Amino acid sequence: MSNNAVLIKGEGLVKKFGGMTAVNCVDFELREGEILGLIGPNGAGKSTLFNLISGFLPTDSGVCTFGGKKITGKSPDKICHLGLGRTFQAAKNFPDMSLRDNVRMGALFGPVGQTYAQADQETDEILAFVGLDRFMDTAVPDIPLAGQKQIEVARALATKPTVLLLDEMMAGLNPTEVDEAMALVRKIRDTGVTVLLIEHVMKAVMNICDRIIVLHHGALIAEGTPAEIAGNKEVIEIYLGGEV
Ligand SMILES: Nc1ncnc2c1ncn2[C@@H]1O[C@H](COP(=O)(O)OP(=O)(O)O)[C@@H](O)[C@H]1O
Ligand SMILES: [Mg+2]
Repeated sequence: MSNNAVLIKGEGLVKKFGGMTAVNCVDFELREGEILGLIGPNGAGKSTLFNLISGFLPTDSGVCTFGGKKITGKSPDKICHLGLGRTFQAAKNFPDMSLRDNVRMGALFGPVGQTYAQADQETDEILAFVGLDRFMDTAVPDIPLAGQKQIEVARALATKPTVLLLDEMMAGLNPTEVDEAMALVRKIRDTGVTVLLIEHVMKAVMNICDRIIVLHHGALIAEGTPAEIAGNKEVIEIYLGGEV
């Protein structure tokens, strides 16, 4: 894994909100084929870093590249068309649309030149792939939290990403649902999608990630394998506590 090509590279990324530095000169690499975990206490800047990578917020300084091409400064839709999909910490689904349309939107937006028929087929395959076919007759607002998270993942997958950013897809899930979500992330990676995930559920992070990076007060304070991170004194003090 360590020799794999770098897909996304961030160098010196900075984001300030007023006088507060949310992301403070962060360097990181996401390598092809890996599942990279991004952890850190609440408010550490994890979601903000996702917003910088995916173009949802302008970067104050630093550069992010995707496949060697600069993406910093590009709009979220352009970055998505380059092959970057993402989900949001608070699922942003469309309550008045059907489950299928919630996902079809991604299929229609994503791969340029795809026909409606192809998008429909794609949508049905992805619904089954993430396990949402069990909710086909349920109104979106009535689908439970685990399903809401799956809709987000499905819509992002429908854009045909080569890199997927997942923001706390396991928060609030019960242990069975966490196991299912872990299996889904592995399955996504096994289809050739590189994954960067923010997650607080340590059992999941430690089990599925190839590498982990740690943010604290906006700065990257550690990176390594799950075993290295679980044994890192600073990380234990500021974040893991008695969890591992
Ligand atoms: N759009 C915003 N405007 C102002 N402050 C923000 C905004 N987004 C995040 N912040 C602040 O930036 C810090 C990092 O937030 P966030 O990236 O959401 O942390 P995390 O995802 O690690 O919990 C927090 O102090 C948060 O309040
Ligand atoms: Mg967050």
